Amino acid sequence: MRASLATLVIIGAVAALVALGVTDQVIPATDERTLSVRPWVAARALGITAYLLLALEVAAGVWLSHPRNSGDPRTSRVVFPWHELLTVFTGAFLTLHIVLLAVDPYAGVDWIGAFVPGFSQYRPVPVAIGSVALYAMIITAATAKWTRLLPAGWWLRIHRLGALVFLMAWVHGVLAGTDTVALLPLYLFTGGLVLLGIAHRWWSAIGPAQRQAAASIPVAVPLRRPEPAPASEES
Ligand code: HEM
Repeated sequence: MRASLATLVIIGAVAALVALGVTDQVIPATDERTLSVRPWVAARALGITAYLLLALEVAAGVWLSHPRNSGDPRTSRVVFPWHELLTVFTGAFLTLHIVLLAVDPYAGVDWIGAFVPGFSQYRPVPVAIGSVALYAMIITAATAKWTRLLPAGWWLRIHRLGALVFLMAWVHGVLAGTDTVALLPLYLFTGGLVLLGIAHRWWSAIGPAQRQAAASIPVAVPLRRPEPAPASEES
């Protein structure tokens, strides 16, 4: 994964802006409560941004691996750099999401709760799903970068975990988020689009011959009692 200097500068600038915003440097808070919930509010906005970036990242991956595009160098040339960049930006926004939640005393997620599934005081199960999604995401990205460390073809098998990462992030966002009711149309729209993309890719990959074979599996015929043999006329 190539993160150019420009990419790192952008990520650093976003992090600096977040730090300025949540530490009362840009717009001084008018009351104590506003001051205390700022990191929490910023963390939520960063979580939603990370989720949307992840949806785009997975969509770009599905696009690349779709049988219609996978052999086409023009598609790879255009879409692959986006897939990589989206991975870097998802990671950066996620890092900010997690760090702010870990340092913020408002709900008591804490560092241990952020990284050890089940140890968060705040919504332990949904937060645990987020942590597991994070680890699965790191594994998917790291194995794609260092493919030579694995037996041939393994990275791709592991990379398919990406669909599961998205599913876990979706469930985490819906269950952990305070804004779920307002954001439900967004979750349904983005989740539905990614799901449709994955289903279409899978359907195209199994191929027409296999589809036909699957369709021609004989349907179970209900068992019928054998007809009684006609009674012989002699008896
Ligand atoms: C793939 C990884 C993750 C993604 C894409 C993600 C994304 C999101 C999203 C979209 C929300 C909803 C925000 C809202 O509605 O206000 C959220 C909430 C939350 N996330 Fe994450 N998250 C991830 C990992 C984590 C991890 C590792 C933690 C551990 C600290 C975490 C802690 C939380 C908490 C505590 C909330 C609730 C905030 C609220 O009340 O809205 N997330 N996350």
